Amino acid sequence: MKAVLYTKVGTPEESLRIAETAKPSPKSNQVLVRVKASAITNMEYMRFGGLGPVLNLAIHATGKPLGIEFAGVVEETGSRVASLQKGDAVYGLAKGFIGAWAEYVLADEKEVSPKPGSLSFEEAGALPTGGITALGAVLAANIQPGQEVLVQGASGGVGHFAVQLAKAYGGIVTAVCSTRNVEMAKSMGAHHVVDYKKEDIAAAGKTYDRIIAVNGYHPLSVYQKLLNKGGAYVLIGGTGKALSGMAAGPIRAIGSGKKFTSAAFPFQPKRQRLEELGRLADDGKLRPFLDGVYAPDQVHEAIRYTLTQHPQGKVSIKMEF
Ligand SMILES: NC(=O)c1ccc[n+]([C@@H]2O[C@H](COP(=O)([O-])OP(=O)(O)OC[C@H]3O[C@@H](n4cnc5c(N)ncnc54)[C@H](OP(=O)(O)O)[C@@H]3O)[C@@H](O)[C@H]2O)c1
Repeated sequence: MKAVLYTKVGTPEESLRIAETAKPSPKSNQVLVRVKASAITNMEYMRFGGLGPVLNLAIHATGKPLGIEFAGVVEETGSRVASLQKGDAVYGLAKGFIGAWAEYVLADEKEVSPKPGSLSFEEAGALPTGGITALGAVLAANIQPGQEVLVQGASGGVGHFAVQLAKAYGGIVTAVCSTRNVEMAKSMGAHHVVDYKKEDIAAAGKTYDRIIAVNGYHPLSVYQKLLNKGGAYVLIGGTGKALSGMAAGPIRAIGSGKKFTSAAFPFQPKRQRLEELGRLADDGKLRPFLDGVYAPDQVHEAIRYTLTQHPQGKVSIKMEF
């Protein structure tokens, strides 16, 4: 089969090459999927943004196709797979978070779900990682209908899902992004949009019941002040500083009734989350925003664009070789 192989640590141009490689065979709990589409994820952002050698220690990718998420059609099922069959349109996560940039990918049955019928393959292939992460954060926030929810980082690969999901769970959503993304955030259904280039949420005087903060751009003390009594803060991703700042969460919670948590992608139940995302998509409440669809031989360009231009939503790779 054809695949976009990772040949060595380096720039996208140095390390990625389209080549023939062996078509994998599913183990008893796996499915083999004919990939229709995948997308750029934060993994590529890390791998080509300077963390290639470190990431290669955790997920040794040399000689294998990259690509975490996918949408496609089941080609073959393992002997113990009961919920899926050949010909099903599905979406999900590649086994071991690697291998989706290829004609065929292996996936564990528990990390695959039927593709939402309302989404194209390109849209569904861009939903798994960002969608699962955003849904995990929204569930951790335990949003009650009518609550004021602040989503910071609202236009990116995770945040644009968080805006839609927070609204779907009943929140009155204030989205924070820069000037060029204000219209996009409104189109995602945000009730209010704050342009962080023009307005400082920390000084605006408004407070919130829930805060979902991509990357945690402010110190935890600022979020604490922005939260109403009994409120909850959930951090998605984040720099070392934002993550280490979370250590102060339990102390800040004392006496305030406020909760400080973070939502980490690898530890989330994947299949249930994919099913819930699919249900919300088919209810018209969730749709990936695609900032471009690239071909496999343009994958370098797609990664460069992601590294340098801050895409709106997600960047798709249509897997037609
Ligand atoms: N993408 C994924 O699939 C994925 C999956 C799991 C975990 N994660 C993690 O989640 C985090 C976010 O990823 P992402 O892909 O969504 O990032 P991203 O696409 O780079 O989005 C960053 C967002 O933050 C906004 N922003 C930038 N500076 C800001 C500031 N000073 N104040 C307020 N907002 C600001 C950006 O708005 P403007 O563009 O308008 O400036 C944009 O909306 C990362 O730590 C990542 O590792 C991502």
